[in-house]
Amino acid sequence: MPVTASDIAAGLRALGLPAGATVLVHSSLRSFGQVEGGADAVIDGILQALGPTGTAAFPTFSGSSKLGPEHPPHFDVRQTPCWTGRIPETARDRAEARRSLHPTHSVAAMGPGTADLLHDHELSPTPCGPETPFGRLARCERGYVLFLGADLRSNTMFHHVEEAAKVDYHMQEVPVAATVVDYEGETRTVRLWLHRYGPARDYPKAEPYLRERGILTSGRIGESTVRLVRSRPMVEYVLARVSEDPDYLLATRKTPA
Ligand SMILES: CC(C)(COP(=O)(O)OP(=O)(O)OC[C@H]1O[C@@H](n2cnc3c(N)ncnc32)[C@H](O)[C@@H]1OP(=O)(O)O)[C@@H](O)C(=O)NCCC(=O)NCCS
Repeated sequence: MPVTASDIAAGLRALGLPAGATVLVHSSLRSFGQVEGGADAVIDGILQALGPTGTAAFPTFSGSSKLGPEHPPHFDVRQTPCWTGRIPETARDRAEARRSLHPTHSVAAMGPGTADLLHDHELSPTPCGPETPFGRLARCERGYVLFLGADLRSNTMFHHVEEAAKVDYHMQEVPVAATVVDYEGETRTVRLWLHRYGPARDYPKAEPYLRERGILTSGRIGESTVRLVRSRPMVEYVLARVSEDPDYLLATRKTPA
């Protein structure tokens, strides 16, 4: 039986996603098995579960490890594709969506919280700092991160934690001058610091704790394993861990314990 938008809405409600929430979605379309209506149906299901007061956000990232001061990014909000999957790529193209203007870590969103979540992302000195969609979601009372057939390896909120804790492995040392083309076709130059593709991470290590405390719940929709995490307590917990131990999120320790 193909999965429908209604199946997705019902599955998300059963998992505990409340109407009116703000949710950042990391996704794999293929994970569901066959979805009737494809990526649009997944987006419709999320919007149905959230209702008219909720906001859905999708990472529409476009950076690469080759970018840096010698190769600064050029980003056109209407044209630059993302590499984060078919669902975000479809979301950014929807008539009701807006996409933030960050040249590597843009986010596309729809719903009444969109402007509050996305505004001035490109003016943040770093991709995931306090005044970015990630920092704002970390403070949001009704904020969630949803993983549809993806897992905590894709959890960009942990990059927010790494920035907040100022770990020494995460940021490039020199800023870049990126060019950004906005919705009106105006080009501007923004000076900002990019992530470096540093040491291997072990982000799923936080999952057992988050699950025990009820911060993370999981279930199935079609063939997909889906995880729903409350963003604020997740960030508070992991930030406390990284503040005690800057290597906490790394796959291999840099410094002896
Ligand atoms: C990389 C990743 C996107 C790949 O997932 P995926 O399911 O293989 O790919 P997409 O979500 O782009 O979906 C496209 C695939 O869905 C499948 N598909 C197409 N139509 C479909 C339908 N109606 N129903 C179900 N599956 C369908 C196809 O296999 C298609 O692959 P193809 O384009 O090669 O034919 C996923 O594993 C992932 O990591 N997601 C999280 C990304 C992220 O948010 N990263 C954050 C920073 S690390």
